[in-house]
Amino acid sequence: MSSLKLIRYGAWAAVVALAIAAGVLVTLQMTQNKGTGGLIEPLSAIGGPFELVDGNGQTVTDKDFAGKPLAIFFGFTFCPDVCPTTLSDLQGWTMALGEDADKLSFAFVSVDPERDTPDVMRDYVAAFGERVVPLTGSREQVDAVIKAYRVYAKKVPLDDGGYTMDHSAAVFLMDANNRFVGTIAYGEAEDSALKKLRRLIANASASS
Ligand code: NI
Repeated sequence: MSSLKLIRYGAWAAVVALAIAAGVLVTLQMTQNKGTGGLIEPLSAIGGPFELVDGNGQTVTDKDFAGKPLAIFFGFTFCPDVCPTTLSDLQGWTMALGEDADKLSFAFVSVDPERDTPDVMRDYVAAFGERVVPLTGSREQVDAVIKAYRVYAKKVPLDDGGYTMDHSAAVFLMDANNRFVGTIAYGEAEDSALKKLRRLIANASASS
């Protein structure tokens, strides 16, 4: 065997060993995910019971939305772009759905309850029509719903001494039994968003 051939065999052996090691790692990771709910959350892990406060200061829970599918998203009224855009998208979708929009509920939950009092939420959301229920609450209530929906929300200090909120932007789609069925991504095309909302409505009427 020439020395060149030996080197080649050696290189191949190393590649094979690496591939086996990678395979073992992936298998290990998959097993761990199964056991402890690691990186990939099962669908049922998103959502759940919550207790919040609406724009009139009244307590609202997930049960108040029961019987109708719910499109719910999280943000804050000081949001410079994502939240007003999403609220205006929602308004556009409900206009496109026409009467069918009555078969859905819509909610906007503040991740910044310190500034987003019920009054602030009510006035802000009212600028985007009457369909979206503004929800806020105590820090504990908001933290609980953020956790239940696996929402990312983080306070980011600003140079002027104030702060903004970095937060996840998807609209969560829940069926009439408050089970998570999917999301509409931020900036998703309207026809795609409408297709999802119509399917949500159709599935709810089929099962009721
Ligand atoms: Ni926002």
